[in-house]
Amino acid sequence: MDVIPRNYKLEFTPNFRDFVFDGMAEIAVTCLKKTSTIKLDVEEITVESCSVRVADLIFEPKFTVNKSKGLLTINMRRQLQGECVVTIRYQGILNDKLIGFYRSIYKVGSKTKYLATSQFEAADARHAFPCFDRPDLKATFDVTIIAPKNMTAISNMPIENTETVKNGTKYVFKTTPKMSTYLLYLGVGEFEYLTGKGKVRVVTTAGKSKQGKFALELAEKLIPMYEQYFAKFYKLPKLDLVALPDFASGAMENWGAMTFRENLLLYDEKSSSSLTKQLVAEVLSHELAHQWFGNLVTMKWWNDLWLNESFATFMATKTLDWIYPSWNLWEQFVNSASSTAMELDFLESTHPIDVEVESPSQIREIFDAISYEKGGSLLRMIEDYVGKLVFRAGLRLYVRNFQFDNATGVDLWDSIDDSIKELDVKSKSRTKKSKRVPRRDIANMSVRKVMEPWLKISGFPVVSVTQNNDKVTLRQDPFKLTEPQGRTSTWPIPVTISSKSPDIRILMNKKTQTLDLSGRFIVNPKRMGFYRVHYQKEILDEIKKSVQKKTISGMDRWAIQNDLFAMCLAGRASVPDYLDFVDAYSNERKYLPLINIGQNLSLLLNMSHSQDWNGMVRDHALPVFENMLEWLGWEPSPGEPHTNSFLRSMALVSLGRLDTATSDRTAKLFEKYVRDRNKVHPDIQMPMFAAVARNGGVREYSKLSKLFATSDSVEEQLRIATGMCEFNNPNMLLRTLKFSLTNKVRAQNIHDFILPAARNPNSRGILWPWIRDNWDPLSSKFGAGDRLLSRIVYGVAMATDGSEYSEIKKFFTKKRTGGIERTSQQLLERIKMYSDFRKQAAQDISAISS
Ligand code: BES
Ligand code: ZN
Repeated sequence: MDVIPRNYKLEFTPNFRDFVFDGMAEIAVTCLKKTSTIKLDVEEITVESCSVRVADLIFEPKFTVNKSKGLLTINMRRQLQGECVVTIRYQGILNDKLIGFYRSIYKVGSKTKYLATSQFEAADARHAFPCFDRPDLKATFDVTIIAPKNMTAISNMPIENTETVKNGTKYVFKTTPKMSTYLLYLGVGEFEYLTGKGKVRVVTTAGKSKQGKFALELAEKLIPMYEQYFAKFYKLPKLDLVALPDFASGAMENWGAMTFRENLLLYDEKSSSSLTKQLVAEVLSHELAHQWFGNLVTMKWWNDLWLNESFATFMATKTLDWIYPSWNLWEQFVNSASSTAMELDFLESTHPIDVEVESPSQIREIFDAISYEKGGSLLRMIEDYVGKLVFRAGLRLYVRNFQFDNATGVDLWDSIDDSIKELDVKSKSRTKKSKRVPRRDIANMSVRKVMEPWLKISGFPVVSVTQNNDKVTLRQDPFKLTEPQGRTSTWPIPVTISSKSPDIRILMNKKTQTLDLSGRFIVNPKRMGFYRVHYQKEILDEIKKSVQKKTISGMDRWAIQNDLFAMCLAGRASVPDYLDFVDAYSNERKYLPLINIGQNLSLLLNMSHSQDWNGMVRDHALPVFENMLEWLGWEPSPGEPHTNSFLRSMALVSLGRLDTATSDRTAKLFEKYVRDRNKVHPDIQMPMFAAVARNGGVREYSKLSKLFATSDSVEEQLRIATGMCEFNNPNMLLRTLKFSLTNKVRAQNIHDFILPAARNPNSRGILWPWIRDNWDPLSSKFGAGDRLLSRIVYGVAMATDGSEYSEIKKFFTKKRTGGIERTSQQLLERIKMYSDFRKQAAQDISAISS
């Protein structure tokens, strides 16, 4: 880099009639070497004029815009070194693609309104102003926005002053600290504000600010927690939480002005579900974590994106678990994060966490389960390996050393390793009696050495466990759907084994390792390590007894069947084995094993739909869901943990599919609901809508679609959408799919229809042809590499029995749609996996019943 920015002075004047904006950028740069050209990133920007000032000399350079490269090249026709200021006047577009500086449309009563807002991560600031659009070129920003009279403006910093001008109000914001371009924020609209006692405000469209109370108060609790954890104050004078009607991802961590989808920020005491409450909390805490990890210290380049995202995912769980222990978030974490990551990471078409990325669409594609969920699980593993205190000390060091600057993954590992050394020295200088000696022998640990293979190698290991007299042998192999060919990788695995005596902790560096151990034991308790365990049958039989007697923890009862089910999908165990094992859970009362058994049985019911082996799965599944509902009751009772609601919702839907009486009773709630919405608890509304649809026809379809179209709560709309995907009648399912592409549904919510529909086995033979025939209107609603389109494509795997494989393959080879190359590979692999699985399960079951 020969030219680097120091400060951007930016002025924006949005025009809501033509959806364009006038822009002025005054960029103070330093030319480190003698140079005659300055190159800036630009996208969809029309440059009107350009000038350069060096000391008191101002001149007009030549400039050219290369549209295909997205570059503005300023040719100064002389060699410059040192400081100069480039001033550019330009016009941009207030687009409707949800990137850059964009417009959002919404209604208040019958009036149509617009607001303008920005989304710059990863590489879209260049749509709003010419810039050096890379995370490592940090600068300070002075933002000015000229807003129409009826609107107010927001940016990262508080307002320095306002002034009435002829076309509205001019808002001048204070100078930001040194920061990356992707974190800048611009907002202009008829906003309503909810203020608290401290630095936090909630910003919404008209009439909604009251619903910001929960998020506001939670943010006020979380900020001091993060300040304490990182030993660093929150650096900005204010923090806005902005709820937006149109938003591509879930939320965004712009420094001092975080943005959210409405249903992920707003919470209404009366009408919101427990799920919404938890999601709001998780999203808020995630974005808050970024204010330190990401905003204050930023990755050098996007290959380390996972560090940002996995860390925020991990920290959100940690902090909220302190505030809401009854939510059992770590239990939810292992089932949602670790399992999701493993499901993707055992395919050939996965990728290493640390990947080389260059273009914006490549960068967009890596915001996936590998970066978020696998990364988050690895952090949990490494924290367990070094101990919580050392881990935190390492983070504090990292934040202290790299604040207002950039860092890499290696910098983080080195910081943790430095803290290990420091603590080791301290512990040696203390007397033996000292209580603060670290919990483990950490002196020889190297986090960097342990972590690097996990980041560079794709996939993860399975540890096979065999026992012979007093010896236990562990052997690691890559856990893959297809047998790995040739030499295979080994990971340095932090293995823990719990038994009667104290836990054994080793770092398994080799392929096999034998230990002296007798009696019962569990490998990888609490699934702290990111690997699966495959026990020899005799050991598994013993563990089954411990499950029955509940002498092992709920998390371990979950893990053991979770691994066994994964072995089934990978062809290493059989469905009858799994179903037998699940019998040990007839008295289970813990959320985690129950929810996952329910999910696995639902998947088996789906896979076996209209096949001979469906009967056997039904026979096992029915009592599981019946017991669950009997234990939980139909309505949430005051004071119960809200995870009960998650279980109840699953039980009502799953049982409704198997049993008409349950379905009818659930559907009956709808009459009460129509009379008075507050009469049906929000936590059971989704199962209610689903039951209405299940055996319904045209009348039910029109009731539900009307309800969706007239609802003013996104949260309620999502419950209705899921419900509308439950039709058994294929024609009604098709109408639901069609509905998702009408203007009643925002682009950001299309997947809320298509994904649940894909999980309904009645959509086989319908969903894929529909996507194929509607590909152009569907894909045109999303930008290249949009994660939502990827999720839709991946969802097709559930909705085909495999007979459409070649057609799907041909389709995606021909389409070559940018940004979904990898996803379509993953889709094909998954379709193949499910279809092999179906064949094998049918065989295994017929073998035992004949
Ligand atoms: N930084 C991301 C938002 C983002 C994602 C921007 C992809 C650009 C491309 C933000 O911190 C985030 O991770 N949001 C999540 C929600 C979160 C709670 C998991 C999201 O949008 O899915
Ligand atoms: Zn994030």
